[in-house]
Parts: sequence; structure tokens; C-alpha cells
Amino acid sequence: MSRILITSAIPYINGIKHLGNLVGSQLPADLFARYMRARGNEVLFLCATDEHGTPAELAAAKAEMPVDEYCQQMHRTQAKLAAGFRLSFDHFGRSSSPQNHRLTQYFAGKLAENGFIEEVSEKQVYSHADGRFLPDRYIEGTCPNCGYDKARGDQCENCTKQLDPTDLIDPRSAISGSTDLEVRETKHLYLRQSALKDELDAWIDSKSDWPVLTTSIAKKWLHDGDGLRDRGITRDLNWGIPVKKGEEEWPGMEGKVFYVWFDAPIEYIACSAEWAEAQGLEEADWKRWWRTDAGAEDVRYVQFMGKDNVPFHTLSFPATIMGSREPWKLVDYIKSFNYLNYDGGQFSTSQGRGVFMDQALEILPADYWRWWLLSNAPETSDSEFTWEKFQGGVNKDLADVLGNFVSRVTKFCRAKFGEEIPAGGELTEEGQKLVADLDARLKAYAGHMDAIDVRKAAAELRAIWVAGNEFLQTAAPWTSFKTDPDRAAADIRLALNLIRVYAVISAPFLPDASATLLEALRTDAADWPEDMEKALSMLPAGHGFAVPDTLFAKIQDEDREAWAEKFSGVRT
Ligand code: 2FM
Ligand code: ZN
Repeated sequence: MSRILITSAIPYINGIKHLGNLVGSQLPADLFARYMRARGNEVLFLCATDEHGTPAELAAAKAEMPVDEYCQQMHRTQAKLAAGFRLSFDHFGRSSSPQNHRLTQYFAGKLAENGFIEEVSEKQVYSHADGRFLPDRYIEGTCPNCGYDKARGDQCENCTKQLDPTDLIDPRSAISGSTDLEVRETKHLYLRQSALKDELDAWIDSKSDWPVLTTSIAKKWLHDGDGLRDRGITRDLNWGIPVKKGEEEWPGMEGKVFYVWFDAPIEYIACSAEWAEAQGLEEADWKRWWRTDAGAEDVRYVQFMGKDNVPFHTLSFPATIMGSREPWKLVDYIKSFNYLNYDGGQFSTSQGRGVFMDQALEILPADYWRWWLLSNAPETSDSEFTWEKFQGGVNKDLADVLGNFVSRVTKFCRAKFGEEIPAGGELTEEGQKLVADLDARLKAYAGHMDAIDVRKAAAELRAIWVAGNEFLQTAAPWTSFKTDPDRAAADIRLALNLIRVYAVISAPFLPDASATLLEALRTDAADWPEDMEKALSMLPAGHGFAVPDTLFAKIQDEDREAWAEKFSGVRT
């Protein structure tokens, strides 16, 4: 048994996330967490809402609510949707928690103590029309790197380059559109990540097993000219974590808060402290996940995120950890994702384009989405959601293959032998072949799951379902029943047992279907199959079952057309 710490990038608080966000971090993280638990490991799976910064302020203003109330409400909404998608977080925290305030200020203090903080007089953009400083995301303009004309002051969404507002060409206010901007002086704290460049470089070099997507982005920002320049970690905003040096005031920093990207990753740690508090546990109980001087040396820490988050997790956050010169755990493996596009364009929160988590659950249960999204995860390149692809994938894999197998086997058994596992006969030759085939396939499946190769894992699971159907076709118990009922009984006994194995190994993808199947089989034997032959004889002759309701309904053409039409515009 190992101890696995898993975090998903924490979603911004400003609104409901779309399916592209979901498949880029939370959903694959959940897949991995469920799998690792099923394999008997001790897992701590954390996520939270990212509540600071200008997106939160903007969204609250739009909703005409005080920002703290807005965040509280949206946190509840996001938590409910996460539960709807069966995301099995051990804790869903908040970056605005008191724990994160304390830890963020603590890290800033340590970084200052160790000489990694510099106080800088900074030029910042002031908007006359808006009567305020315009931080980062309030400024739009053309990216100096790629020429994209809707780049924001913190990052270009098109080429992922981290930017400062003053880098933008032809800047304008995102609030008013005004170009009447002036650059003024104000004092800020900078994190001297450049002083940690060699350490970061060596650390990333030591991660030879990381996905190419992760290391290529990290290396690019490490070596491309200004990639690792020192970055401002404070802002002139009201909403956020007040700038302090540990518990002490920070002279000259009154009225300023930490930059959202400084405190957000620290929430991964704070979230475990929130978890411990919620569970009535002690400080030592969360520190054993994070401090290598407190028991975390054998923890494997895996992070999940979209590619735009990679620079912050490979450079800035590790710089915070390293610069503390304390034994906090660094990430062991970063699984990053490309983008999922929507029907010929991008999913977009700001433009309301695509399908959002609440809308998805209104039209179909979680398992349908989980399966399609994960089996089409944008791993090696961007992938695309279209209603045709979605219909095709769901109908073929879930209804025709898995659902059909369950339905044929249980209904045939009920009709010929009654609602219990039939007795008689012995493992047939076809049965033996199936056992050997499944044994090899399960090893391959587990290998892909261990390596977090999501699409390959889904493909192997699908192949395992297909193998069951092929067995049924070849064994043809409906024919053998007429001449050799014992033989038919042995094959059906195996097939019913296979349904249990499907329930167990498919659970990370399809938690609800898995529960339905185990219930129908009246068993809670859900241990991962270690020995396939044993696993396939777990339910003995005489064990009762019920024919489950249709596991997966096919998506009809009319539904597909109606949904495509409904989601073709923008969300209002
Ligand atoms: O891109 C995003 O949605 C960010 N809110 C992710 C933050 S991840 C972390 F650093 F906390
Ligand atoms: Zn760009």
C-alpha cells in the first residue's frame, strides 16, 4: 500500500465550469483517485475553489453581490455540481479559508527571511475612465509574443505566455474599453524566482517520466529569455489575502493583497488543513501528507491541470516551496491536458460557449459524460466535442457493448435458469480462453491507469467489455442450452461473474453504473481482481441476482439534434 496525494487545479470561483474545464483537471484526477483507492492505496484527494483576484471581484460585481457572499454561494454551487459528477474529493476547500490566509502569509515570511522577496517600485496601469488601477485581467491588448489581440494582462490564452499588463500592445481597459490609461508608480513585492532557476532546472531534469506536454512547457518558460523573470506577488485590491510577513505587518504593504496565483497553489496545502479540521483531526494528520520531516517522505504527490496552468505549477509554486527552505513536499508527477474544443470552436466561459456542468447533468446522468469525456480526453493533442461524436461514443461503448452484455446475460439467465447463478458444468474451453484473455487485458488496463494514460486505459476497458460480448457470441449458450444445459450454465455462471468484475474495474470511469451492477448482483465484493479465475468464480451457484434496469439508454437522433440546437448559441 502506498500513500497518494492527488490535487486537481482549483477552479476559479467566477461561475460554473464547462466540460472543457472538467476534463482538463477534476475529472481525470477523480479517475485516478478512485483507481488508486480501488487498488488499496491510502489516498488524499483535494480540490477547492480559487476565490481571489479580479475574476472573483468582477463576477461578484456583475451579480451585484458582496464578493465574500458571492464566493460562498458559488462555492456551494460548484460543490454540488462536483458531487453530481461524482467527483470523490476528500475535501473541497476554499482558497479564502483562514488556513490559506495563514499559510500564504507564512510562506511569504519564509521567502522574505531567505532573501527571495524583493520590494520593487512598480509601474502600474491607471485608468482615468474607471478611476482605478487596472490589475492584470482588467487589461486586454495584443500579445507581444504571438499577436493574439485578446490577450489579458496576466497571460495570453492563445500561446500561454505569462505576461505583465505593461507588456501588452495597444492596451485597453477590460471594464470600460477605455484606452485612456496612464502608468503610475506603486510599491510591490516580487518573488525572486530567477535566483532559483538552477534548482528548478535540475529538479525538472530529474523528472524524466513526466508527460512531454508538461516538461516542454516548463522548459520553454525556463529557458526562453524572460520566462523565469521575477514576478510581482502583490496587488492593489481589496479582496484577497492581506500582505503580511508571517503574523507580522509588512511595512509599506498596507492595503495590498497577495496575487491570486501566489495564494492559489498554497491552497493545496491549506486544503489538507481544512480537511483535517473538518474531520476532527490534528495538525500532524495533514502534515504527514506534506512535510517530509513529518511522515510525507513516502507520499507520492500527483497534480492534474490544463496546459495553461503548467508554468505556475512547474516554476512559480515550486519556487515558493523551494524558497521556503523547509521540507514541504514538491510534486512528484504533473499530468497536464490540452484543450477540449466545442463543435468547431473553443469552449468559453466568458462567451458562454459550449456545455456547462449544470446543463450537462440536466440532460444526462454523470456516467455518460464521464465516459465520453475521459475516453476522449485531450491528452496528446486538443480534442473536440461534437454531439455526433458524443452520441456515437455513448451508444456504441455504453449501450451496445457494456449495457447489452449485462442485459443479454441477466435476461437469458432469468429466462432459462431463474434469478440465481446457475449450477452445473465446468469452465468450458471458451471460458478458459476468456479468463486468459481478460487476465492479460486487465494487466494492460492497470498499467495504463498506473501511468495515467487516460485514453489508453479507456480503450483497454472497452476492449475488456468487447471480450465479454465476443465470448457470449462464440459460446452461444442459447444454442448449447438445448443440447447441453450444463455447458450453458457454466458459461452463464462465468458471464454473470464477469458482470461483477466489470462493475469493479469500471468503477473509476462509471461509479454509478458500477453501484447499480453490484446491487443487482446483490454483492459488495468489490476488491480489485488479482487472480482472474478466482475473481470470475466469486459468485457461487445459487447466489441470487436481479435483472437491472437498462444500464444506458441510447441517445436518439432527435435528442442529439435538439441538444445541438439548444447549445449552439451562447449562454445568457
Ligand atoms: O486556471 C484556473 O482555473 C486556476 N484557477 C487554477 C489554479 S490551480 C492552483 F494553482 F491552485
Ligand atoms: Zn500570445
